[in-house]
Amino acid sequence: MNYKSNVLVAPSLLSADFSRLGEEVDAVQDAGADWLHLDVMDGNFVPNITIGPPVIAAIKRCAEVPLDVHLMIDRPERYVKDFQSAGADILSIHPEACVHLHRALVEIRDSGMKAGVALNPSTGICAIENVLAELDIVMVMTVNPGFGGQSFIPTMFPKIKAIRKMIDESGYDILLEVDGGVSPKNSSELTKAGVNVLVAGSAVFGTRSYKVSIDNIRNGRVM
Ligand code: DX5
Ligand code: ZN
Repeated sequence: MNYKSNVLVAPSLLSADFSRLGEEVDAVQDAGADWLHLDVMDGNFVPNITIGPPVIAAIKRCAEVPLDVHLMIDRPERYVKDFQSAGADILSIHPEACVHLHRALVEIRDSGMKAGVALNPSTGICAIENVLAELDIVMVMTVNPGFGGQSFIPTMFPKIKAIRKMIDESGYDILLEVDGGVSPKNSSELTKAGVNVLVAGSAVFGTRSYKVSIDNIRNGRVM
């Protein structure tokens, strides 16, 4: 897959109807989802509890696109193998939850997955500066993690641009992903700032046509 050819849209299943998860996965894939974004929360690192490896393994059975697993859990290094076995293709962890970030990223890659770091809104970009060689994805949180349907924090734009510059100057092949409050209203500004992957939960699953919503997010068209 050529990750860099265009803007990728990764619908977040957190806003899907969990009683019909398989159908929701099929629907969003038919609608053009490039990745499936799966939010794992432990009730400690964030004030919410969601899904774990068994549900991810079930999603994997009907997935045709890469699983982009976002771990919002304390000490995520404890579960790298479990998520790899469950079928994660990309595993993103938070530096705020992980003391030995470098070691954890190396372990993720050694397990055959792409390695990502997700930064809370308050976390500075220096958190990734010494691990760029170990990274495939940098994910900028544009809400405080824990819930879908929150408002995009516009003051994250300078941070997104600074990370874009950092990646470009590094010469490494790293994708820039944004998660939280993404919609057709802000997606064109995000892609202009150099974002490669747009995560969107409520702006896809909260609408009638997943295809129209994904297309509008990708193309930055406001209806
Ligand atoms: C928030 C999650 C997001 C969330 C995005 O903690 O990491 O992936 O599902 O949902 P929206 O797009 O509704 O903000
Ligand atoms: Zn997420």
